[in-house]
Formats: sequence, structure tokens, C-alpha cells
Amino acid sequence: MSLGLVSIKPMPKSEVSLKLHSQESDLIDFIEPIKFELAAVEKELSTNLIDDNPFIDELLASVLKSGGKRIRPMLVLYGAKASQSSAEEIDHKEIVLAVLTELIHAASLVHDDIIDSASLRRGTQTVNKRFNDRLAVLLGDLLFAQASICLSRLMSPIIVGIYGQVLGDLCAGEIRQMKQQFSVSVNWVEYINKSIAKTASLFSAGTRSSAILNQADDEVVDGLRKYGLHLGICFQIIDDLLDVVGSSAKLGKPTGSDLRAGVITAPAMFVLERKDEASKKLEELIATRQICSDEGAQAALSLILESGGLESAVGLAQKHGDMAKDSLSILPDSKYKDCLVELIKYVLKRAN
Ligand code: FPP
Ligand code: MG
Repeated sequence: MSLGLVSIKPMPKSEVSLKLHSQESDLIDFIEPIKFELAAVEKELSTNLIDDNPFIDELLASVLKSGGKRIRPMLVLYGAKASQSSAEEIDHKEIVLAVLTELIHAASLVHDDIIDSASLRRGTQTVNKRFNDRLAVLLGDLLFAQASICLSRLMSPIIVGIYGQVLGDLCAGEIRQMKQQFSVSVNWVEYINKSIAKTASLFSAGTRSSAILNQADDEVVDGLRKYGLHLGICFQIIDDLLDVVGSSAKLGKPTGSDLRAGVITAPAMFVLERKDEASKKLEELIATRQICSDEGAQAALSLILESGGLESAVGLAQKHGDMAKDSLSILPDSKYKDCLVELIKYVLKRAN
């Protein structure tokens, strides 16, 4: 039975808990201008909109309170603040938009862990590992259902269409990735399209829709759409890179997971396209499936590290970071616009 617990009515600031969820101390530095809004997002994320079953409450909490960075809600909130015409508080619908954007992200990760047979996410057991795939499918669907309820509360057919496209993009991105598994032919257009579908589509929907809710000018809406798109591509490239160089403790999952699964990401592609000795060795590791073993994945990681694959991937991420920054030029100057620029730097800094 639906309890319909999310109201559109804004919460008084005194009721808003300031305990934020992000565990990333370097993000804490620039969330100050939106700390009340982010706390409101946290409060609504911890509300079970579907029923009052304690087991479901516990499952939802285990997924939603597991230390996510909340980048997507931040994008929505900064997009909302940067695109509004007056300095008034943002409309409560923007909070709902931030909540639903995070719910879709969380749902897609629960489903992704089933597809990847992953055991760990953010350092804790995945739902599929702790219970089983069937329960994880249902929990992911339940999170999507919560997001749909939030979406309906925005009362905007345009935004329903944008998020409908996002759901399709998420699925299509995964399908595209599956199709490319163990492929040694380098196709950058396909790589960027897959990255848009998997990651950038949701980023872009969030920033674009925040401006639509503000009834901002078309140019501003489009500037924020492009900002989210390029930041999302940049984020995915850095994610690819962290699979090669990130510490498994910090990532909360094993390093080299993509390579072992035959997902050929940007750093590997930069080596493969060189058609030299290193690229031939990497091709062989992939084509023979040796890359799936610990030794094979280690050999591939070493080849990528020694052959400049990482530096080239950082360069590509930087290029999209710059395009994201340029897309903001249409927005009036404000501390919120500055924070959107800071977010680009944060995303790029994850690689260091
Ligand atoms: C992480 O990928 C996964 C995504 C960015 C999206 C996954 C999308 C789906 C599974 C489809 C969702 C379903 C519906 C119905 C919309 P990754 O494996 O590269 O990253 P990871 O290392 O964090 O797991
Ligand atoms: Mg995965």
C-alpha cells in the first residue's frame, strides 16, 4: 500500500538534519552553498514510498546509505541554483528531481551488480551476493518505482520524456557494452555513445531538467544539458581509468574488474589503436581471454601503464571537462556556477 510520504511542501530548515551522506571529505569543501537542500534530499531518500515493510526499509537503507558521493543530486541542485532568475530558495520540486535522479542511479547499480555478478560495491556486499539475483532484480525495480512516483510529482510531461529516454539509454548502454566485450577493434564513436548512454544521459537529464523546472531560457537549458553531457563523459572516462590505477580499498571493488570482464575501456583503447608491439600483446591477451585471469589482467594493466594509455585517457577526460566548462558560458556569473566548475575539477581529481 502506498503511503505517499514525499510531499511537495518544503521542509522548515530547523527540521533539516545537516548530517550529509557523502563520505568524500574533498566534496564536503564545496557543498556549503547547498547543504540544506542536500540534507533535504537525504531525508527524502530515506523515505520508503512503497509500503511500511521493515525488511524492505532495511534493504533500501543498505543501498541508499552505503556512502555514495551524491554527485547527481548535487548537479541538479547546483543547476537549479545557477539557472534561477532570483536569489530565492529553490522550489521543492528541485529537491524531488534530485531525489529521483539518485534513485534511478541507485536502481541501475543494483541491476548492474547482477549483470556483472559483482560481490562488492562501495566496500560492502552487493544485494545479489548478500541475498540472490531474484531479490536484487526486485529491489532495483522497487527503486525505479519510487523514482516514478517522484517523477509524477513534478507534473512535467517534458521531464517525464527526458527521464524515459534516460531509462532506455541506461539499458541500451549496457547492451552496447555487452556487444563490445572482448572486441579489439577501436571505435571511439561507439565508446562515446556507450558512455553517454551509461552515464552522461542521467547527468545531462538532471542539469537540463533543473533549468526546465525554473522555466529558464532555452539557451540556459541547453547550456546545462551540454554541461551534464560532457561532465558525464568525463566522469565515465575517469571511472575507466580508476579501474586501472585506483586502489581497491578506495574504489570499494577490485581493481581491473573491467579488464577481467573483457570491457575494453579508454586506457586500453589508446594502447590498442597504436598497432605496435604493446598493442599486439594486449590484443592477444584479450582475444585469447587470458585477460580474464589474474595474471592476464595484471599483464594488461602493466602494458597500459607502460604505454601511456592512462595519460591519453586523462587528456580525453580533460577535453570533455573543458567542453563542460565552456557550456556554462551562457549562464550568468554566480557562486553556484563556480561550484559547477569546481565539480568538473573534482571529477578530474579523482584520477590523481
Ligand atoms: C555501472 O557500470 C552501471 C551503469 C552506469 C548503468 C547500468 C544500467 C543498467 C544495469 C540498466 C538499468 C536498468 C533499467 C531498467 C533502467 P560499470 O559496471 O561500468 O561500473 P561499476 O564499476 O560501478 O559497476
Ligand atoms: Mg558494474
